[in-house]
Amino acid sequence: MNRETLLEILALARWTPSGDNTQPWRFEIVDDFQVAIHGHDTREHVVYDFQGHASHLAHGALLETLRLAATRYGLATEWAIKPDQPDTAPVYLVRFHPAGLTEDPLVPYITERAVERRAMPTTPLKDAHKEALIAAVGSSFRLQFFESLADRLAVARLLWNNAHLRLTCPEAYPVHRDVIEWNARYSKDRIPDQALGVDALTTRLMRWVMQSWKRVDFFNRHLGGTYLPRLQMDLIPGVACAAHLLLKPKRKPVHLEDYVRTGMAIQHLWLTASRLGLHLQPEMTPVIFRWYSQSGTDISATPAIDEGARKLAGQFDRLAQAAPDDAFAFLCRVGYCPPPAARSLRRDINSLDRGQSLMLDR
Ligand SMILES: Cc1cc2nc3c(=O)[nH]c(=O)nc-3n(C[C@H](O)[C@H](O)[C@H](O)COP(=O)(O)O)c2cc1C
Repeated sequence: MNRETLLEILALARWTPSGDNTQPWRFEIVDDFQVAIHGHDTREHVVYDFQGHASHLAHGALLETLRLAATRYGLATEWAIKPDQPDTAPVYLVRFHPAGLTEDPLVPYITERAVERRAMPTTPLKDAHKEALIAAVGSSFRLQFFESLADRLAVARLLWNNAHLRLTCPEAYPVHRDVIEWNARYSKDRIPDQALGVDALTTRLMRWVMQSWKRVDFFNRHLGGTYLPRLQMDLIPGVACAAHLLLKPKRKPVHLEDYVRTGMAIQHLWLTASRLGLHLQPEMTPVIFRWYSQSGTDISATPAIDEGARKLAGQFDRLAQAAPDDAFAFLCRVGYCPPPAARSLRRDINSLDRGQSLMLDR
């Protein structure tokens, strides 16, 4: 195996999804058969990265993408978490070895897979596709489907209430402000506004309002500022899809490795969905707010937000017919539709280079 092959595998792996397209990893080539993935998280400034777990899920998704990408070159993959690293900066050692593997059928979807945040057709999921999705997450997880109109309406109601918390939470405002690239169809390190799933007029209004928290707060309080975005980003898409899927680990995740393995299952699910002609949108905030609620950690300095999160967790439990301490890992919506017109791209490989190890002339 030569350095070129390793770089091609890493170039593919860059297309792994991460929360808000943060790409919380840097690559270091150790030798021609081994890379070190230096992970980080955004818990210090992103309210949604609860204890770094959203980033840990993305790290797992990256490891799964690496494993699949390596099959294109006949290679098998082994990985291990480097001992004695803090969870805030985990290092994953990934080793490739020739195994004569044939390319996994999911590989072409590594670059094709993209979030669809707009309304999708309500064409029901085919039974064979449901079975393929269940198989994709493996035996350590359950996949719960919300498919009927009544079920989709119930999830849409959860998302509507959840979005009220999200949009009125002062701690979430800087995250929303910084993650959107305005006037953009593509974005290498954020989400382009055209991929948000809102119409052009609402986008312009959001852009103006989001220039300061004072404006957001005024709009929310006096002009029903949350209604338009919530309608377009939560309520309508919540109904306009084939189904919502809830991924439930059979064993409650505790350690970094548990979240990483969950992320691997998520990426396998997402790529399988793409292969079946389904687009997918993660709906992680209700899951994340429930993590806060379960652990008794405050989201906000505003008590009403945390009270709201506790109520929301109760609503979510009733919807999923779950007990308050059951584990939820991932919620998303899926539907059969063509690819989105706008999407996030990725950072150039050089800007993901740790210590200039990707330079070919090293
Ligand atoms: C752990 C995780 C959580 C995510 N949460 C959300 C979410 O709540 N809502 C959403 O619209 N997209 C969510 N996304 C999708 C990312 O924003 C998206 O993957 C990223 O911007 C890259 O875009 P792409 O998937 O289209 O390539 C999430 C992705 C991951 C991996």
